[in-house]
Amino acid sequence: MVDEMEKDCLFPQAGGFLHGGDYNPDQWLDRPDILKEDIRLMKLAGVNCVTLGVFSWVMYEPVEGEFSFRWLEEIMDRLYAEGIYVILSTPSAAHPAWLDAAYPTVRMVRADGERNRHGGRGNSCWSSPIYREKVGIIDRKLASRFGSHPGLLLWHISNEVGGECFCPLCGKRFREYLSRRFDHDIKKLNQAWWTPFWGHCYSDFTQVEPPFSNGETSIPGLLVEWKRFTTWNIMDFLKTEIRIFKELTPQIPVTMNFMSFSQKLDYRQAAKELSMVSWDSYPAFHNDWETLYDTMGKNAFYHALIRSLKPEKPYLLMECTPSVVHGMPYNKQKRPGVHRLACLQAIACGSDSVLYFQWRKNRGGCEQHHGAVVDHLGTDDTRTFREVSEVGSMLHRISAATGSMTGAEVALLLDWDNRWALNEGQLASRQTKNYEKTCMTIWKEFFRHGVEMNVVSTEADLSGYRVVVAPMMYMLRPGTAANLKEFVENGGLLLATYLTGYVDEHQLCYMGGFPGDGLSELFGVISEELDTLYPSDHNRIRFADGTEWAVSDYAEVLRVGSAEVLGVYAEDYYQDGAAVTCKLYGKGKAWYVAARVAPAQMWTLFEKMLEEAGLPVKSLPEGVEYHQRRGEKETYDFYLNWTTQTRDVPAAEGEDLLTGRRVPENTLRLEPYGAAVIRRAVPEE
Ligand code: GLA
Repeated sequence: MVDEMEKDCLFPQAGGFLHGGDYNPDQWLDRPDILKEDIRLMKLAGVNCVTLGVFSWVMYEPVEGEFSFRWLEEIMDRLYAEGIYVILSTPSAAHPAWLDAAYPTVRMVRADGERNRHGGRGNSCWSSPIYREKVGIIDRKLASRFGSHPGLLLWHISNEVGGECFCPLCGKRFREYLSRRFDHDIKKLNQAWWTPFWGHCYSDFTQVEPPFSNGETSIPGLLVEWKRFTTWNIMDFLKTEIRIFKELTPQIPVTMNFMSFSQKLDYRQAAKELSMVSWDSYPAFHNDWETLYDTMGKNAFYHALIRSLKPEKPYLLMECTPSVVHGMPYNKQKRPGVHRLACLQAIACGSDSVLYFQWRKNRGGCEQHHGAVVDHLGTDDTRTFREVSEVGSMLHRISAATGSMTGAEVALLLDWDNRWALNEGQLASRQTKNYEKTCMTIWKEFFRHGVEMNVVSTEADLSGYRVVVAPMMYMLRPGTAANLKEFVENGGLLLATYLTGYVDEHQLCYMGGFPGDGLSELFGVISEELDTLYPSDHNRIRFADGTEWAVSDYAEVLRVGSAEVLGVYAEDYYQDGAAVTCKLYGKGKAWYVAARVAPAQMWTLFEKMLEEAGLPVKSLPEGVEYHQRRGEKETYDFYLNWTTQTRDVPAAEGEDLLTGRRVPENTLRLEPYGAAVIRRAVPEE
C-alpha cells in the first residue's frame, strides 16, 4: 500500500528529498579511480540523485552521426547499484564545434545583426532546422536507450534556456507569427501598433523587422510582441524536445531549470509544458549592501515565484552552490552554517530537493574555481564536504515533510507581459519604474510578517486567495480586468497601485480614463495625471488618524467617483487630493494607492486587509524567516535565523525534527544561523 508520503512525493523511490546535483563524469572517463571514489563520497554525503549529461552532446556524438552512449550506461548502472538516482539532461544547451563548422547557421545572431562565432553555450538559433533535427536525433536515442533505466527519475530539458536570436530565419518566423496574430491583415497590425504616429505604417508583413539595436526600436507594440515571439519561438523549439520524451517515455516526468525572474522567457508559458518546475538559485551571500536576511528574503521571493508556476505540487531546487560561485564581482564564501540554512530555506518554501552545481570541481575549463562538493583537494574532510554531508543527514531527518505543500491564501500578481510592457514601453526611464523591485519589496513585507504569498499571473484562478496585491499592473491583458472584478465581487480583498491599467495587450492606451478596461468602476477612481518625481522631491500621504506615508517617484492625481477617500496628499498642487481610496464592490473591497510608498509604511494597510480576511500574522524576531508546509496529518513550521545573534521565537509546541526534541510553547531558541523544523499533528476535525 502506498502511504501518505509516497502518494504526494515526487519521487517515492528515492526515499525522501533529493540530494545531489550536477555530475560531469565525462571529464574523468580515463580516471576510473576518481569515478569509483565519487560513488564512495556520494554515499558519505547522503547523495541520492545526480544530474547527468547537461553539456554532453560532443561526448555522445563526437563526430557527426557517430554515437557513443556506453560510458553513460555504465555510470548510470553503477550509480543505481549504489542507490543513486539520475536526472538525465538533454545536451542541447552546448552544441559541438563540428556542428558550427559544418552548419554555421546554427549559431545565434545578436541584436546588431552579427552572427556569433563558435563558443560558449546557449549559442544556438531556436529556429535552425538543422539544430532542431540534430537535437531530435540525440533526444530520441537518449529516450529509447535510457527511458526504462530503473535509475532514471526525470528528464531535464536543455539548461537555463533564454536568449534572443536575430537571424534571417528568426526574422522570417517573427513575420509569420505576426501575420497569424493579426489575421494576415497588415491594417490590423498598423492599428494595434499605432504606426501612423511618426509615419511608421507598413504596407506588407514582409517589411517588419525584429527590433535590431540599430533598427526599429521606437514602436512599443513591436517591442513587446518581439518578447512574446521569442518566448513562443523558444517554446516551439523546446516542445520538439519535450514531445519526444512524452511520446517515447510517458512514465518519466519532464522539467527545465529556470533562473529566478528571467527577462528572456515567460516561465509561465514554459511551465505549461512541464511535469514539474525547477530552478537554479545563486544569491550573493554576505554582500556589503544588504543584510543576509535581505539577500535571502529576495531568494525566498524567487522560490515563491517558481513554486507558484505549479502551486499544486512541490518543485525542485535544481542547482545551488555548495560554497562559492564563479564570475561574480566577488565570490564570497558562505560562512559556516549558512549553507545548511539556505538548503533548509528551499525546503521550507516547498522544494523537494537540494541539488548542487556541481559534484566535483573541474580541473580546467570555465568555472574551474566554482564551488563544488568535492574540491581539487579531493578529500572528504573539507568544510564544504562536511557541511554538505550535514545537509544530507538533515534532509533524512526531515524526510517526513517530503511531498507536503505550502498553502498560501495571499497572492501577488506579476506578469511577464506587464514587465516587458513597462520596461520596453514609454514613461520615464527604467530606473524609476523598478517593476521587479517594487513587486519584490511588497512581497518581502508579507514575508517579514510570516505570511506566505504566492506570485501568480493575472490570468490565474484567484478563487483560492483571500487577499491579492497587484502592483503597477500597467498592461491589462484580455480578461485581466474581468478576473479582478470577479475576485472582488466574490469577497476578495484587492489592492492596486499607481500605473494600473494604462495600456492594452498591444501597448495602446485605454481611452476614457485609467485604470482602463472597466477597472475604474472597480476602484471607483480615475487617474487623471501621473506626476514623476525627482529623487529630491518630497510629498506625503496623510490619513485621518494623523499617520503619514512618504511618497517617492510616482504620484497620480485622482478623480474620485464612488470610492471612499482614506488618505490625501499633504503637499504640492494636488494637496488634499485623494491618494489612497477604498471601494466596496460586490462582497469584497478594492483599495487603490495612487503613489509609490515604501511597503514597510504600507504594512498597516496590508495588515488591515489580512485581519479582514481572517488571516494570521506572525510576530517574528528581526532576521528570522518562517514558512509552513502542510501534509494531510502533520504540519511543519520552519524557522530560520539569518543573524549571528541568538533569537527567541514565539513558536507553537511541537517536535523539532532537527534535534528530535519536544519544544514547549514559546520556548524556541535559535542559535546564530540556527534553525528548527517543528512538526505538529493537524487537529482532527
Ligand atoms: C548555472 C548553470 C550551470 C553553472 C552554474 C554556475 O546555473 O546551469 O551549468 O554554469 O550556473 O553557477
